Amino acid sequence: MNIDLYERIWMWAAAFIIALFVAMIGVSAVAYGLHPPSHVETIEPSKIFTDPRFSRLGAPVVMPDGTIEVQMVAVMFAFAPNEVRVPAGRPIRFRLTSADVTHGFLISGTNANTMLVPGYISQFTTVFTRPGDYLLVCHEFCGNGHHVMSGRIIVEEAK
Ligand code: CUA
Repeated sequence: MNIDLYERIWMWAAAFIIALFVAMIGVSAVAYGLHPPSHVETIEPSKIFTDPRFSRLGAPVVMPDGTIEVQMVAVMFAFAPNEVRVPAGRPIRFRLTSADVTHGFLISGTNANTMLVPGYISQFTTVFTRPGDYLLVCHEFCGNGHHVMSGRIIVEEAK
């Protein structure tokens, strides 16, 4: 089969571009540790309140490495607990899940933003640089009381 020279050049160029894009996705996934929002830890939604992983609701736990772990559960139409106090300038690890339907978790004015999917534990770590009173809202429509589902994250001056 005769393929015109310019056609052949273009075919190789196109193949090279495709291979380059696939390689860029692969390299960035490994280099930056890209992964889904949940870290794929599962939990039985009906047993959350007896699960030891959520035995410290409302009482942030200081981990051996200095990180503060905050456990929260979303239920229609509230967060348990709905008010959390954490210090500024320290890594805060949020461990979150839903006891019923899919909820959202957004701390306004920050980049803390995840979905809470029943059956999964969502986890992320963040540092609040500025003390203040932050509004926590559910940003996934979860039913008739969705618009009242909110809480407060109170970031206190570091001691
Ligand atoms: Cu919970 Cu919307």
